[in-house]
Amino acid sequence: MRRPTIIANWKANPATPRKAIELARKVERRIGRIKNVEVVIAPPFPFLAGVGRILRRAKLGAQDAFWTGGPYTGEVSPVQLAAVGVSHVIIGHSERRIHLGESDETIQKKLPAVLGRGLAAILCVGERERAGSEIPAIVGTQLEQALAGVKKSHTRNLLVAYEPIWAISTTPGAAADTPEGAFRAMLYIRRILSRLYGRPAAESVRVLYGGSVTPENAQAFLREGKMDGALVGGASLDPDEFAEIVRRAAGR
Ligand code: PGA
Repeated sequence: MRRPTIIANWKANPATPRKAIELARKVERRIGRIKNVEVVIAPPFPFLAGVGRILRRAKLGAQDAFWTGGPYTGEVSPVQLAAVGVSHVIIGHSERRIHLGESDETIQKKLPAVLGRGLAAILCVGERERAGSEIPAIVGTQLEQALAGVKKSHTRNLLVAYEPIWAISTTPGAAADTPEGAFRAMLYIRRILSRLYGRPAAESVRVLYGGSVTPENAQAFLREGKMDGALVGGASLDPDEFAEIVRRAAGR
């Protein structure tokens, strides 16, 4: 069985390094003794080094990476992220796709760069709307496009986060997907991974759920939805809620 992974995606929060370190300390205190769950905290770039210094139990994640260093104003490379202790990088989050015009082509360059540097990549895929129970083909397209340059040997460091946009807490009218819906998406994603890389490699990839995850629904996604963990936005800014999600993942 794959060990579950719970990721805190702080997005552009909090406002100051002091608050970021305080939040990380509170999370660390609450999760210190919880075993059998991999925990990753992904703060904004300016707080990576400071937060990284105080993390013991949790690993350090980044919310994005560019594919290389050099003359690219405003960007941050995988090498730079690794140098400050980052082990995981979120790639292709829907907020970047929507607000920054991040395309499948861009993601196609970022993913091999992150994996090639030996970092774990969390590739986000998810549809804007879903009618009925079928997982829309766009999820498969996003996955195939993103993975076009990813070698089979790099899939052991790959995580795929299924995040339907309509379920992300900041989307107006958002509600979490059902465990059944997430389960279906997970099967669909694994089928594509199997076709691309063969069954054993596909089985080594963790498939996470994201979108309005709370302490109340986390366990159902892991147990009934058979997800390998969760990508948590809003609830990750509350140390009690986030720690409770980690605790429930441990007791799945
Ligand atoms: P949410 O965000 O948990 O606030 O819905 C998830 C995400 O956008 O990664």
